[in-house]
Amino acid sequence: MVTRRSAQWYAGTGRNSYIHRAWMRRGLPSHAFDGRPHIAIANTASDLTPCNAHLGEVARSVSDGIYEAGGIPLELPVVSLGETQVRPTAMLWRNMAAMATEEMLRANPIDGVVLLGGCDKTIPALLMAAASVDLPAVVVPGGPMLTGTFRGAPLGCGTDVWKLSEEVRAGTTTQAEFLRSESSMIRSKGHCNTMGTASTMGLLAEVLGMTLPSVAGTPAPDSRLLEAAHRTGALAVEMADAQRRPSGILSRGSFLNAIVALAALGGSTNAVVHLLAIAGRLGVDLTQDDFDRTGSGVPLLVDLLPAGRFLMDDLYRAGGLHAVLNEIRDLLDPDALTVTGRPLVEHLSDARIHDHDVIRSRAAPLRENAGIAVLHGNLAPDGAIIKPAAASRHLLRHRGPAVVFDSIEDLHSRLDDPDLDVTPDSVLVLRGCGPKGYPGMPEVANLPLPAKLLARGVRDMVRICDGRMSGTAYGTVVLHVAPEAAAGGPLSLIRTGDMIILDVETRRLDIDVPAEELAAREPAPAAVRAYACPRRGWERLYVDTVRQADTGADLDFLVGSSGDQVSRESH
Ligand code: FES
Repeated sequence: MVTRRSAQWYAGTGRNSYIHRAWMRRGLPSHAFDGRPHIAIANTASDLTPCNAHLGEVARSVSDGIYEAGGIPLELPVVSLGETQVRPTAMLWRNMAAMATEEMLRANPIDGVVLLGGCDKTIPALLMAAASVDLPAVVVPGGPMLTGTFRGAPLGCGTDVWKLSEEVRAGTTTQAEFLRSESSMIRSKGHCNTMGTASTMGLLAEVLGMTLPSVAGTPAPDSRLLEAAHRTGALAVEMADAQRRPSGILSRGSFLNAIVALAALGGSTNAVVHLLAIAGRLGVDLTQDDFDRTGSGVPLLVDLLPAGRFLMDDLYRAGGLHAVLNEIRDLLDPDALTVTGRPLVEHLSDARIHDHDVIRSRAAPLRENAGIAVLHGNLAPDGAIIKPAAASRHLLRHRGPAVVFDSIEDLHSRLDDPDLDVTPDSVLVLRGCGPKGYPGMPEVANLPLPAKLLARGVRDMVRICDGRMSGTAYGTVVLHVAPEAAAGGPLSLIRTGDMIILDVETRRLDIDVPAEELAAREPAPAAVRAYACPRRGWERLYVDTVRQADTGADLDFLVGSSGDQVSRESH
């Protein structure tokens, strides 16, 4: 018989266990406290997180599964983050959501948890929390939305917003046409349908071993998602009985599998900071350079926007995640476990590709080398990343003069100035957008191109930023530059006109300025001004303690785990 954690609250005849039971009864029968597992359903559903608004329905199926398997389901609303709604950026609160969820899981009388997320930051935050509290935990990804269409063509959430708005600026689409597309963009419940961050992290949650096999990528309106949610509820009871915890599932091999899958899927660059942060909670030795070492030789097999043509609904129809993983099975760690207690690779045997346009075979990939490249040099001593698969090939080796913007406001005020001294060879540099500088490291690195160059037909330029890029964006963008400008990185020393050298093949990112001259420069005041602002509350805690992008941008005191024990009674 398993000794339940929840029994620390409910077992016994004293006053304290009386209080814990009595207030929880509210229709629960006495046998609810006879030693069966109490399973929380950590739910990020919110009307203000449109991508997760349907998770209440998913929670009911999870609840049914828990009850059917002999557990007690308990819904626990947790902090939710709507990527498109919160300002200045949802990333500012990923760590807060993770911290709050971790604390509530630890503080309550539960024996396991089912984690319901979808929109970009929600699954990473839930996994960070689960890793730190280390209770038996399993994820149900909320799933992507169905494909909307406009002018007879599919619409990719995010990606086509950027494309259409650039067309308006270039004068090839009217403002009225642009606005007409708005009501077609979001066709159904679910998260963005491109291979953006939500799709990437939902799929990687499964590759990490943290979901029921074959659930990730199931479209949100598909009835099979509810069936999987039901089975996940039952699995959570089994996991609580078996004491199957994240620390026993998530190994270095699990993370390397996720890096391999990230490349094959053409997933979001945001996965780098999220995977590093989750690994940091577990004490798994994972570095940013592992993304290059492990992912660079992996072929791109999935033809999804923003790197390709199709959308998540197509990926599911074409065979889904397992069909992709089967093609790269030899690159996966055969010992990496899943929530079932069995290795990931054991669950892949039935997977087939049903549409070779959407999922390519290993013999005919879209690209031979699809991983994220990690750059180093005197402009990024602690590294920067670029996604070559989303970049223009002719720009992967480039030397050009910097045009420097100190903030997103500076960019907006000057970018379209007809007198801006910029050519297609210029390198657009945007600083002050790192974790401390903005604060929150927003998705602004894919800065728009100057209107006068767009009008000349220019569609890509080298861009460099200490911020992040939307997973739905594309272009030759160097991002996550560390240390960021506000933390005194060399990015704060650049001046307009300095020559920048990017060479993705040799993994270099340099400023062609003599070291003595660079050392003699003072950081540009405007680049560090935001960091110096007085702050209170969460922003203050965040700015004072956030780490740099190359280690996952977690708060320094949240790295690691505290386990599930609480040492004292509540009264
Ligand atoms: Fe929620 Fe894109 S806005 S996933």
